[in-house]
Amino acid sequence: MSRRSVHIMTFGCQMNEHDSLKIASLLEAEGYCLVEDPERADCVILNTCSVREKPQQKVYSALGRLRRLKAKRPYLVIGVGGCVAQQEGSRLLERVPYLDFVFGTHHIHQVPEMVRWAQEGRKRSCEISFESDVRSLHHCPRPLKDEVRAYITIMQGCNNFCSFCVVPYVRGREQSRPPGEILGEAEALAARGVREVILLGQNVNSYGRDLPGSPSFPELLGLLNRVDGIHRIRFTTSHPKDLSVELMDALATLDKVCEHLHLPVQSGSSKVLAAMNRGYTREEYLAKVESLRDRVPGIALTTDVIVGFPGELEEDLQQTLSLLEAVRFDAIYSFKYSPRPMTRAFGLPGDPPEEVKGERLARVQRLQEEITRSILRGCVGSAEEILVEGPSVQGRGQLTGRTRTNRIVHAPGDGASLRGKLLEVKIEESLKHSLLGRIVEKGGAG
Ligand code: SAH
Ligand code: SF4
Ligand code: F3S
Repeated sequence: MSRRSVHIMTFGCQMNEHDSLKIASLLEAEGYCLVEDPERADCVILNTCSVREKPQQKVYSALGRLRRLKAKRPYLVIGVGGCVAQQEGSRLLERVPYLDFVFGTHHIHQVPEMVRWAQEGRKRSCEISFESDVRSLHHCPRPLKDEVRAYITIMQGCNNFCSFCVVPYVRGREQSRPPGEILGEAEALAARGVREVILLGQNVNSYGRDLPGSPSFPELLGLLNRVDGIHRIRFTTSHPKDLSVELMDALATLDKVCEHLHLPVQSGSSKVLAAMNRGYTREEYLAKVESLRDRVPGIALTTDVIVGFPGELEEDLQQTLSLLEAVRFDAIYSFKYSPRPMTRAFGLPGDPPEEVKGERLARVQRLQEEITRSILRGCVGSAEEILVEGPSVQGRGQLTGRTRTNRIVHAPGDGASLRGKLLEVKIEESLKHSLLGRIVEKGGAG
C-alpha cells in the first residue's frame, strides 16, 4: 500500500507552528508523509488562529479553496484544529458540510484517530473539551533536518484575561510542563546538533506556579543553562507585570541566556492599559525597562503594540509614540485592534473607525522604521558573536546568523559547513532589517 500524505496549513503564532510540528510527528508515526502541495494530499489539516479577525478570515478562505478540491477528490479528509476550532467547535461542522473533523487546542494527540475515523467513514468528530492535563504538552516534535535553533514548549494557556484577547478562552488556563521533560528535550536537541533553544509559552514568567515543587522560571533558566551543547537560550512571551528582579538577574548572569527580551507593551497610555487589563502603567513599564537595562547593558527589546483600542484618543496614541521613542525597541509587531467574541472589550463603545486605526498604525510603523534603522546603523563597526544558521536565503555565497541580541547578520562564508558554529563578525553595513558583516574569527564551539 502506498504511503498516505498529509498537508498541514498553519496560521498564527509560534505556539501554533510548534503544534503543527507535533501533529506532523504524530501522523508520520502512523505512516503518513508530509507534502507541500494540498493537491497531492489525502488529508489536509488547518491549524488555525483567532487572535484577530484577519487570520480567522484566512481560515475561511482556505476552507473555500479546499471545497473545490474535495469536489474533485471526495476521499480527501479535511480537519480543522487550533484556536478557531476551539472557539467555534461543532458550529464549524455545521457551517462547513465537507469538513471531517474539528479538534481543539487540547486535542492534538487525537488527530491520528480522528483522521482514521474520517477515512473509515465512521463519523465526523469534534473534540474541544479543556483537559486538566494537556497530553500534547508532553510531546516532543520530530527532529527537523539541519536545525540549529529549536522551540521547546514549557507551558501553555493563559490566566491573564487582557480585555482584548481571546487566547485564555481558546487555550485554557496555564499549564506548565514538568521541568524534567523540558531538560530532557533540551538534552536530546543538543545531541542532535541544536545550539539555540527558544522556550515557548503564552506567559513564560509565570512558569511553574501551577506545579507544586516546581522551579520558578528564572530557576528553570538556571537549570537549562547547564545543558552541554546548548549555547544560547531565548524565551517568549514575557508579560511585563511578571518581569521580576529574579528574571532580570537571570538575564544578567546566566551566560547562555541571550540579551534580548520580547516584552509586549500594547499601549503607551496608562488609561488604555487599564482598560486593556494589562496590570501595569506606562511608568511601571518604563521603570522595569530602565532597571533591566541597568542590569543587562545593551539588551535588545522588542514589543507588540495595538492601536485603536476602544476609547483610544489622539493623546493616547501620542503616548504610545513617545514610549516607542523613549524605549527604542529593535522591532515591534503592531496591530489594529480587532474586536474578538467572548472577550471583555467586545462591543465596548469608542471603537475608532477603520480609517483612524489605519492612520494610527501607519504613524506607529513609520516611527518604528526610523528607530530600527537607526539602531542597526549604530551597530556598524561593532564586533558581534553570531550563531550560524546556514546559507543565506539570498545565496551569493553568504551565510546567515544571529547576534545574541537577535539581530540578523549576513556575511560571506560557507553557511552549510559553518552551520551551528559561533563566529566573531565585524559589522560593516546596515540594511532595513538586517546587518552585513565580515567573519573575523572562526569560533570552535559547535
Ligand atoms: N501572550 C502574548 C501575546 C499573545 S497574542 C502576550 O501576552 O503578549 C500576540 C499579540 O497579538 C498580542 O501581544 C497583541 O499585541 C495582539 N493581539 C491580541 N489580541 C488582539 C486583538 N483583539 N486585536 C489586535 N491585536 C491583538
Ligand atoms: Fe492574551 Fe494577555 Fe494572555 Fe497575552 S497575557 S495571551 S495578551 S490574555
Ligand atoms: Fe492565534 Fe491561538 Fe496563537 S489565537 S496567536 S494561534 S494562541
